[in-house]
Amino acid sequence: MLRIVLAIVAVALASADQSAQAADAGKSLAELKQAYRRPATIPSPAQNATSQARVELGRDLFFDPRLSSANAQACASCHNPSFGWQDGLAVGVGFGMKPLGRHTPTILNLAWSEPYFWDGRAASLEEQALGPIQAPGEMNQPLDKTIAKLTAVPGYKPLFEAAYPGEGISPATVGKAIAAFERTVVSGKAPFDRWIEGDDHAIDSAAQRGFMLFNAKANCMTCHSGWNFTDDGFRDIGLKSEDIGRAKQVPGVPVLEHAFKTPGLRDLRQRAPYMHDGSLATLKDVIDHYDTGFVKRPSLSDNIHPLNLTDGEKQDLLAFLDTLNAENPPVTLPVLPR
Ligand code: HEC
Ligand code: HEC
Repeated sequence: MLRIVLAIVAVALASADQSAQAADAGKSLAELKQAYRRPATIPSPAQNATSQARVELGRDLFFDPRLSSANAQACASCHNPSFGWQDGLAVGVGFGMKPLGRHTPTILNLAWSEPYFWDGRAASLEEQALGPIQAPGEMNQPLDKTIAKLTAVPGYKPLFEAAYPGEGISPATVGKAIAAFERTVVSGKAPFDRWIEGDDHAIDSAAQRGFMLFNAKANCMTCHSGWNFTDDGFRDIGLKSEDIGRAKQVPGVPVLEHAFKTPGLRDLRQRAPYMHDGSLATLKDVIDHYDTGFVKRPSLSDNIHPLNLTDGEKQDLLAFLDTLNAENPPVTLPVLPR
């Protein structure tokens, strides 16, 4: 019965043109919508199951500049909620105001998105969190110094005890608490989600055409699949950057030269500029890149080829991407332990 209802909805929604494209993609509109449905719960690993005490401690640590040697930079300085948990810059700015080699990615929806970093060099959020604290170019503070500083703040002791009873203040508990907080940073419900759930008027017809293009002619879904619009795979999409990306972690695999982790596409409005090198300023630039702007080289993904999109189709794709922006509630800053 449900299937019949969905099929009727699909026919009612899809113009003849859209139906043809959905058929190209081998899926009905109803099946496509199902493939992009939001998950009901946030996963967390058994060794660091999410709890309120862990999330609150992790939020404090994420916003605490005392994790840096100069007491001047928190995780949130670069992963700033006002910029979709990024920084609005082409490449991050680290210790001593020196630019980093890569663009700051968002921390949105990372509970679903292993492994981490543009080149996938960290297997878990727990492991990743300890990287930037110690990195000389970022927060530049050795872990023993970090633990000594946190231990000297009386207010932190009961928070660690509540979150990780008997485990103390250690690199392991710092990494786990930050990871527990990050897993709660999930993009809110967007107009697209309401459409998926059956509100036919939640997105307009241009955006609906854009969704079909995304899944057929524009070929975006081969990499940007599922509710967070990524399969977390590594590909070379033909940006001009010389950075070899994933190939540094996994040498000897030609297709991993210049390959970077596929980012999710939610809340993009806040997240410009785009790509691991921050080289594309607008979403229009991104679409033009995929249409014709990429560099051809042996490592270029097989799924990147000229798209021959019309101006109208580009507009429709942009209209669709815009429906992935949620009206996220304001983020509350913690009052840090003293
Ligand atoms: C100076 C700016 C800066 C600071 C401070 C910083 N980051 Fe990052 N972060 C970056 C950049 C740049 C990258 C990408 C680096 C790369 O992939 O090589 C990144 C990557 C990440 C990723 C990987 C995201 C993904 O999609 O794989 C996570 C998670 C993350 N940072 C969390 C943190 C946490 C937690 C802290 C604090 C302990 C922190 N960052 C501090 C700039 C920063
Ligand atoms: C072959 C796989 C693949 C295809 C096809 C693909 N993408 Fe991507 N996309 C990626 C990867 C990988 C990146 C990151 C590349 C980098 O920074 O080097 C990316 C980055 C992006 C970004 C920037 C996100 C950010 O956080 O900076 C946007 C927006 C985007 N893609 C949209 C699209 C759209 C729209 C299409 C279809 C026209 C598309 N992609 C097709 C793999 C793909």
